Amino acid sequence: MIPSVGHMLAETHLHPDTATRPANADSTSAPDPASSTAIGSAPAQADSAIDPRQHTAPYAEALRSLAAEDWQRLHVPAHQGSRSHAPGLAEVVGEAGMSIDFPMLFSGVDQENWRMINHDRVTPIMAAQQLAAEAWGASRTWFITNGASGGNHIATTVVRGLGREFVLQRSVHSSVIDGVTHAELRPHFIHGRVDPGLGSSHGVTPAQVEYALTEHPESAAVYLVSPSYFGAVSDIAAIAEVAHAHDVPLIVDEAWGSHFGLHPQLPVNAVRLGADLVISSTHKGAGSLAQSAMIHLGHGTQARRIETLVDRVVKSYQSTSSSAILLSSLDEARRHLVTHPEAIDQALATAEEIRTRVKNDTRFRDATPDILGGHDAIGNDPFKVVIDTRGAGITGAEAQYQLIRDHRIYCELATPSALLLLIGATSPVDVDRFWTALQELPRSEAEPERPIVLPGSCEKHLEISDAYFATPQTVPFAEAVGQVSADALAAYPPGVPNVLPGEVLSAEVVDFLRATAAAPSGYVRGAQDSRMDTFSVVAEKPAAG
Ligand SMILES: Cc1ncc(COP(=O)(O)O)c(C=O)c1O
Repeated sequence: MIPSVGHMLAETHLHPDTATRPANADSTSAPDPASSTAIGSAPAQADSAIDPRQHTAPYAEALRSLAAEDWQRLHVPAHQGSRSHAPGLAEVVGEAGMSIDFPMLFSGVDQENWRMINHDRVTPIMAAQQLAAEAWGASRTWFITNGASGGNHIATTVVRGLGREFVLQRSVHSSVIDGVTHAELRPHFIHGRVDPGLGSSHGVTPAQVEYALTEHPESAAVYLVSPSYFGAVSDIAAIAEVAHAHDVPLIVDEAWGSHFGLHPQLPVNAVRLGADLVISSTHKGAGSLAQSAMIHLGHGTQARRIETLVDRVVKSYQSTSSSAILLSSLDEARRHLVTHPEAIDQALATAEEIRTRVKNDTRFRDATPDILGGHDAIGNDPFKVVIDTRGAGITGAEAQYQLIRDHRIYCELATPSALLLLIGATSPVDVDRFWTALQELPRSEAEPERPIVLPGSCEKHLEISDAYFATPQTVPFAEAVGQVSADALAAYPPGVPNVLPGEVLSAEVVDFLRATAAAPSGYVRGAQDSRMDTFSVVAEKPAAG
């Protein structure tokens, strides 16, 4: 007899957490659309009473259950779950990983039963997305497998469905600019706060958004990034009010805040504060596998207005072979974060311990006051620790390099004047190991020269997509100054384009990008030539003057 999914789930190899869940928690239960949170009543974050259903991971459990059966696999992927077919692959992901690598629409996982299609189905993947929506206070959540980059491609295509012009924070990630290019959008930029000393870009204020929407009333949406790479959190609640007063949706790239809203000591997440569409890079801070991410839909008129459009666009971007391993990692990351607040406590304590030691140190400086020092920031991410290396006799980049070379400690990012540490939301750090290594860094008598930290903006000459799709020409760097860039070029990380397609390359930006490419861990995203000896420019030159 062919077993039903209910039967399979009963036999699931339970995650240790599941064993403690109450008997009435049913991972197969259908998400109740009526139970979706209504406008203005998004669930309070980090409720001390955890919904028992959050102890389940319906999709991951269904996969494990399926893999436990004795299958003869005559379907994609070709390794068909066996170590003997692909021993090298088994070394990489383990046979357990291979065994759950089922294709999409597989009966029992993406389908409710052994029939191939059941149109009224509520499948484990749907139940998993519903639990994520509830955890983050969204009205609906989609799991995606091309990172927040893919989320930004989706969200920019959604903007195209609303209009062509929109208000966009200039310091967005280059994936947003890629989306703008492909969808041929016309952004009206808001320039957020830049800290030239630390070499970081932060957020924008509600007043700036109000001004931009008033200046450009034809704008179809507002698109921002919060938190910034260094952890500055913008006033999303006030900005959402501004956007809604102008009758447009607020889209927030919350790639760096995927853990927000799940603990009382963390900032509230954007969808709970009134944002309509939120891109969350779950792998960055919340512990799923690299490249897995989520899109959350908010509550209210604007969110409802775009829901169908978002769903259509998500489907059009989704691979027809989305990785079950990535998708299940989202399900497990949500379960762990929501049900283990004590793990977040421990990780927070280690982040705070490093910050305290830096504060009391005579050589390095805690840069938290700088992050919080602008009108744009109403909070910061405690899991980002920014260590100012100015006055420490070493640049941030050199410190990062020596920590890697001599101590096998890999920090998230370095600028000439800072080191940025990222602590995973449930990943406490060995503070003593880091601290000992930091103290062992050599110090030069004279302060080292610090190259320019961030170049100013370049002047716009052509629309982004017009420049990107124009015939490009490769020129030596010395001839590139004064010509129109064909590419978005971004020092990576953080990946904020320093010049956009259609902007005139300044001497400052050319120098900066060349210095970035020459740095020990330097990489310029979008470059055709990794050394930046040549630049790709639009064949037609801007008229002089
Ligand atoms: C603000 C922001 N958005 C999106 C992304 C892309 O995220 P992913 O690596 O998940 O594609 C990044 C990556 O650094 C980012 O900084």
